[in-house]
Amino acid sequence: MQVILREHNGAIFRHYSDYFYESLLAEAPEAFLVAEKNNQYVGYIMCKTEFGFSNFKKLGFVKKGHVVSVAVLEEFRGNGYGKILVNESFKGVKEKQCDEMYLEVRCSNTEAVKLYQDLGMDIKQRLKSYYRDGEDAYMMAIEFS
Ligand SMILES: CC(C)(COP(=O)(O)OP(=O)(O)OC[C@H]1O[C@@H](n2cnc3c(N)ncnc32)[C@H](O)[C@@H]1OP(=O)(O)O)[C@@H](O)C(=O)NCCC(=O)NCCS
Repeated sequence: MQVILREHNGAIFRHYSDYFYESLLAEAPEAFLVAEKNNQYVGYIMCKTEFGFSNFKKLGFVKKGHVVSVAVLEEFRGNGYGKILVNESFKGVKEKQCDEMYLEVRCSNTEAVKLYQDLGMDIKQRLKSYYRDGEDAYMMAIEFS
């Protein structure tokens, strides 16, 4: 995994420190996935698990998966990698006994919002000025049955 991180430094793995990636990988390797085509890494998803209030039930704490980041290299987008990565991460957090999965996405990111809706996620909340540039986010979630 170290090799992958270094190869993508400056490309798609650009936002966080190595320590952050390594801690997520250690915590939920089942939901830290890369997409590969012809021996090239073209996308990734990383998730963490948390205990918190349910996004679906009125009462009670649940174990939730949280998509921290997902991206596919620009030239490989629109080929289904994003959907596969998100779908596989659902399986990964279920293996970690999570009851739900959630994420935040820019309200303007219509392609990503559609992708998540296609996979069964609902918009649960609009988070005002969630991003540093002031844009709002949608919090989207899915409950596993
Ligand atoms: C969001 C993202 C991960 C989706 O990855 P992807 O591999 O392009 O997704 P998919 O190919 O599985 O496409 C999912 C849907 O979006 C559409 N789509 C996505 N990118 C497209 C593109 N460049 N051109 C045409 N259609 C596109 C597809 O038609 C597909 O819908 P369909 O199944 O009805 O055909 C990718 O666009 C990306 O890396 N974006 C930048 C980072 C980002 O926004 N991450 C999400 C933050 S929450």
